[in-house]
Amino acid sequence: MKLSILLCLALVACVLGYSENLSLRPLSQKYLHASFEFEAESEPFNTHPVAHHDEFPRILSQIITQSDAREIHLRFAQGFWDAEEWGVLPHNGAFAGGTGIEAWAWIEASSKQEAKKKWFGLVNSLSGLFCASLNFIDSAHTVEPQFTFKQSSTGSNGANETTAYLFSGALPAEPVCTENLTPFIRLLPCKGKAGISSLLDGHKIFDSQWQGMAIDVHRECTDEEACKMVLKQTVDAVVDVPRQLRRNKHPIPVPLYGTDFRCDTSKPYANDYICFPLGDPTEVSWSIREIFGRPIEGACRIGQGSVNLDVPDGWKLQSKSGEDGEILDTYPTLSLANTDSLDIILSSDNATHVSPVSSPPVFAQRSFSGHGQQRGGVRTAFTNPSSEPVTFIYSETLPWFMRFYFHTMKLKNVDGVWRRVRGHV
Ligand SMILES: *[C@@H]1O[C@H](CO)[C@@H](O)[C@H](O)[C@H]1NC(C)=O
Ligand SMILES: *[C@@H]1O[C@H](CO)[C@@H](O)[C@H](O)[C@H]1NC(C)=O
Ligand SMILES: *[C@@H]1O[C@H](CO)[C@@H](O)[C@H](O)[C@H]1NC(C)=O
Repeated sequence: MKLSILLCLALVACVLGYSENLSLRPLSQKYLHASFEFEAESEPFNTHPVAHHDEFPRILSQIITQSDAREIHLRFAQGFWDAEEWGVLPHNGAFAGGTGIEAWAWIEASSKQEAKKKWFGLVNSLSGLFCASLNFIDSAHTVEPQFTFKQSSTGSNGANETTAYLFSGALPAEPVCTENLTPFIRLLPCKGKAGISSLLDGHKIFDSQWQGMAIDVHRECTDEEACKMVLKQTVDAVVDVPRQLRRNKHPIPVPLYGTDFRCDTSKPYANDYICFPLGDPTEVSWSIREIFGRPIEGACRIGQGSVNLDVPDGWKLQSKSGEDGEILDTYPTLSLANTDSLDIILSSDNATHVSPVSSPPVFAQRSFSGHGQQRGGVRTAFTNPSSEPVTFIYSETLPWFMRFYFHTMKLKNVDGVWRRVRGHV
């Protein structure tokens, strides 16, 4: 390990198996999308991962070894993503999950029964690790979807390829909170002390309009019988900027003073006493210190870090380094190497002007309506915004006690598979 660090000091372009990136993108007038991505690789191994380095968390290698998991995926999500306003989900939805907690994994075993036993062991371990009720994923909450998920792992691990079984479970009613973020940060090599993870303050992240947290581990093998585990952690949040700034000023909401009112003076009755309130100002200026409560505390001591600023034309960027606030040249991509502490200031005369967003191929909405046998229901609506046909897979898990009736239903042969539907048609 010493040798590799020495080599790294010698070689400027050396990449240790860790990198982190933060992207910031103003959405419409008041929202900011912050996307944190962290990626760590394990040391190469033959059959089971061994933890030598700080980059790949030891606790995860232990869980993988115990459960014989080839891949593990976890999603924690809360709030609403407004697809009409904000376009496609971040990362094209690759790290998005439904409200609550979702988990799925491919487990290697000689039989499905054995794999299922390991799956329950796995969700119990993850439950302890993430302070989440994942242990409630029992046989009634476990499904084996055939089309929904694709494996990311590549290559075989040299030994005879063992079969891997996919299991998935979801807890939509599980609240997601700070208790889940703390263990997430503890998996990172800098543990929230430096690098972009220093911005991950649970109270700010979980106060956002929409937020999603994802953990994905998969195995990559080369022909030389050497494998490595790749861990990807992401946090995406949509922050309501004016609300966050108001909270900084008044942690407990108070009515505004008359002098702070913003009035529409074009109204004929407008005077010093009568005010027609205007919305949030379009002229904005805020810094990441105001949004996340602190600046980026320098670079993480290992790996590489960068900040990507996707700001629309007309927005101004400025960054300040260190305590004295030395102003730096700011480019859309900032490397975190050689920075002490970094604050970034974004300002615009017209915050309604944001980068155009791309529309998702299909809009989906799902909600519950009523309750009881007669009126209870689940409502799911799909809208195709284009005039072209769209093919997609919709996966739904319903509790055993819910009986459902189809009113109109067409079954179609897709790639030789008849989508058989059970129930009363
Ligand atoms: C961060 O960005 C760099 C450069 O674009 C890329 O090579 C790296 O894979 C990214 N890392 C993560 C975790 O997204
Ligand atoms: C793979 O399986 C074959 C036949 O079952 C066996 O002969 C061979 O030794 C196995 N190879 C390894 C590396 O386990
Ligand atoms: C602000 O930007 C929006 C969207 O680009 C535009 O429609 C509007 O006219 C602009 N307002 C001003 C005052 O420039």
